[in-house]
Amino acid sequence: MENILSPSLLSADFGKAAQQLKQLEEAGVQYIHLDVMDGMFVPNISFGIPVIQSLRKDTHMVFDVHLMIVEPERYIEAFAKAGADIINFHVEATKNPQKVLSKIKQTGAKTGITIKPKTPVSEIVPYLKDVDMVLVMTVEPGFGGQKFMAEQMEKVEKLAQIRKEEKLSFDIEVDGGVDLKNVEGVLNAGANVIVAGSAVFGAEDIAKRAKEFLKILQEKLS
Ligand code: DX5
Ligand code: ZN
Repeated sequence: MENILSPSLLSADFGKAAQQLKQLEEAGVQYIHLDVMDGMFVPNISFGIPVIQSLRKDTHMVFDVHLMIVEPERYIEAFAKAGADIINFHVEATKNPQKVLSKIKQTGAKTGITIKPKTPVSEIVPYLKDVDMVLVMTVEPGFGGQKFMAEQMEKVEKLAQIRKEEKLSFDIEVDGGVDLKNVEGVLNAGANVIVAGSAVFGAEDIAKRAKEFLKILQEKLS
């Protein structure tokens, strides 16, 4: 399984977003993590469909969209049309996760299911055979730059174990407070898609910082 870096645009300088995406793409970054917040599911508002649509013209990177919105079933098609390649939604945000998954599948995008720090893995077990990705939050969703919750690695380990036992192949993504110091532990727990917001976009040279992450991600494989 490939290790992938997915820098979170939430911490970018939005006036320079297109330029910063180009820099990251040239540095070898494959994914960009796009945090959509509605001010209801989380106490913050970020950006939505038109911004994603506009960024789509600037890059070939994989759009790893993280929906932090209530009733995500309402907007799946719109996000797919805007250019989302992977659509992650919160199991806590909908009464019918199975319906959201089938909506995502209908669009041709990859399916991702996400859990907040207080949500146990058992909540998503029924859906694991239908997902391409599981996103484990290591901060309370809503803001970049928060402290990494190391105890969430238990959930990553459990998911990796279930994946092996059930012969499934979903990616495990970890999001929140990941930096150059704790990323190795995250990989060791079994995650292979690494979100990093402030740790990448807070750096003076974002391309250099991305390369530092990529080096660690590659070394773990060899
Ligand atoms: C938080 C978002 C994260 C956030 C990560 O709700 O889902 O993707 O941008 O930022 P850092 O890496 O700074 O914690
Ligand atoms: Zn996110």
